[in-house]
Amino acid sequence: MKILLFGKNGQVGWELQRSLAPLGELVALDHDSKEFCGNFADLDGIAETVRAVAPDVIVNAAAHTAVDKAESEPDLARTINALAPAVLAREAARLNAWLVHYSTDYVFDGSGDRPWVETDPPGPLSVYGVTKLAGEQLIRQSGCRHLIFRTSWVYGARGGNFAKTMLRLAQERDSLKVIDDQIGAPTGADLLADVTAHVIRTARQHPEVAGLYHLVAGGETSWHGYASFVLDFARRAGVPLKAAIGAIEPVPTSAFPTAACRPHNSRMNTEKLQNTFDLYLPHWQAGVERMLSEVLESGK
Ligand SMILES: NC(=O)c1ccc[n+]([C@@H]2O[C@H](COP(=O)([O-])OP(=O)(O)OC[C@H]3O[C@@H](n4cnc5c(N)ncnc54)[C@H](OP(=O)(O)O)[C@@H]3O)[C@@H](O)[C@H]2O)c1
Repeated sequence: MKILLFGKNGQVGWELQRSLAPLGELVALDHDSKEFCGNFADLDGIAETVRAVAPDVIVNAAAHTAVDKAESEPDLARTINALAPAVLAREAARLNAWLVHYSTDYVFDGSGDRPWVETDPPGPLSVYGVTKLAGEQLIRQSGCRHLIFRTSWVYGARGGNFAKTMLRLAQERDSLKVIDDQIGAPTGADLLADVTAHVIRTARQHPEVAGLYHLVAGGETSWHGYASFVLDFARRAGVPLKAAIGAIEPVPTSAFPTAACRPHNSRMNTEKLQNTFDLYLPHWQAGVERMLSEVLESGK
């Protein structure tokens, strides 16, 4: 099997380089790759890349993920999040290849408190959400064999992430304010990558599993709950923190005005994925603990 991966240096792309490697020959690109064009702003270039590589599976981990910045550059966000995935879908259909793509909880309006299922009507609140939804729709309309995974609150051990920011702030400050009215599940890039590899294997044998799936870690929390968990873990591990126990003040989203609106309810129902692929999605705390152990051990 030949796999073409776009966005290899993003949080998810980095982990996919590891998890996809044992499945077959992997051609992994980022936006400034030299041998083949991996730049999503160059739609003809990425079409040529797909034709030249002729993969069995295309995995798209590239995206315009700067949610606030997207509000002021909607055309670029649309090109990267919708038009480029549509080109990949068109080329995948020509080759009869699979396209694996990631989407987001931000396609929903965040109302209510029920976990969203795949058939719920979307209602994005931001340019990012609108363009990611358009990407999904264009892929589905292309007729290519596809797998779209909607995920949320992604973190990786490499580079910056919310947990590392909270650790740093708690070492610098006596108190912190963290949003407590957005609810979701922190989801490891490693989990996404491992599930992707498993699903690709299954899909190659059972093409009828093609479609849209919600894929997040188990359980739910707020950003405040997430931050509290991180600092409790750090304290237990002996990390000296300036912020005392209970010094994280829960605040509403309105306390931190941002250019883009974010959904309050990012709960995602993952039963379809778990049942179709016979998978178990571990609780978010297990993945965050593992990531924190790695971060604290390496002193990153
Ligand atoms: N992060 C989250 O919390 C989250 C939540 C829900 C869904 N998702 C979805 O999950 C997927 C993976 O996200 P992630 O967290 O891994 O994002 P990420 O770390 O921001 O990675 C995105 C990758 O896309 C690349 N990219 C940006 N502009 C590009 C362009 N013009 N051409 C080619 N590549 C370009 C980035 O490269 P540079 O960094 O070099 O620009 C980066 O490697 C995306 O589809 C995202 O929408 C993410």
